[in-house]
Amino acid sequence: MNRRYRKTIIAGNWKMNKTPSETKAFAEQFKAILPKTKWCDIVVCVPTVDLSAAVRAFKDSRIAVGAENVYFEKSGAYTGEISADMLADLGVRYVIVGHSERRALFGETDEIVNKKVLAALEAGLNPIICVGESLAQREMGVTMELIALQVKSALAGVSAEQMRRCVIAYEPIWAIGTGKTATGEQAAEVCTYIRSLIRAQYGARIARSVTIQYGGSMKGSNAHELLSHEDIDGGLIGGASLDPKALMEIVHAANQE
Ligand code: PGA
Repeated sequence: MNRRYRKTIIAGNWKMNKTPSETKAFAEQFKAILPKTKWCDIVVCVPTVDLSAAVRAFKDSRIAVGAENVYFEKSGAYTGEISADMLADLGVRYVIVGHSERRALFGETDEIVNKKVLAALEAGLNPIICVGESLAQREMGVTMELIALQVKSALAGVSAEQMRRCVIAYEPIWAIGTGKTATGEQAAEVCTYIRSLIRAQYGARIARSVTIQYGGSMKGSNAHELLSHEDIDGGLIGGASLDPKALMEIVHAANQE
């Protein structure tokens, strides 16, 4: 983390978990244990049907609500899809784009990810753009090439001003939901590389202002070590974000320096 230049953001990603009633209950419990001091920004990304409940429940708090997906078209005959304007109008502030589960299970290509990033930015949302390699790709030694491809294509056509609103989440696929966390060094190496890619495209000032998160089995016990690295500015947390106490432990781990 480097609080001088950029925000530390702890973001939960509930995936396909919790009903609207459970969302309300989570919010009450989480707000009750929220520290008064602001160490970091907190975002809770929830399933589409839980968004209204989450926005309502977190309204009087400093916790921002995020969506887990968005469609890139503005409106029209796209049965079942949700536009960025719809999310923004609801009071949603962030949206996860290009999560590896959407890439692997729902056929999201780098081109689709780029369209979604642009649509989110245009609607005033802050995209959390996920990138990351599989175990096979890491073992083949192509991690950095793959990350460069994913980052550069996701950001095609994104202006310097818009870049300030983007969050990048480095999520090695082999660490997601497996309990296998990347070591601080492994995660930091890629996060530093991502910042260098942003620097090459947008210059040093913007690169140092961008929040780059790590995601993949982050929890209270490993968050402190991961966040102690200069280029790891927070986390995108799946499993541990479902329990208010477990998520709060990670928020507490951001209270360092
Ligand atoms: P995990 O998920 O924390 O359960 O590994 C992270 C993510 O997929 O965003």
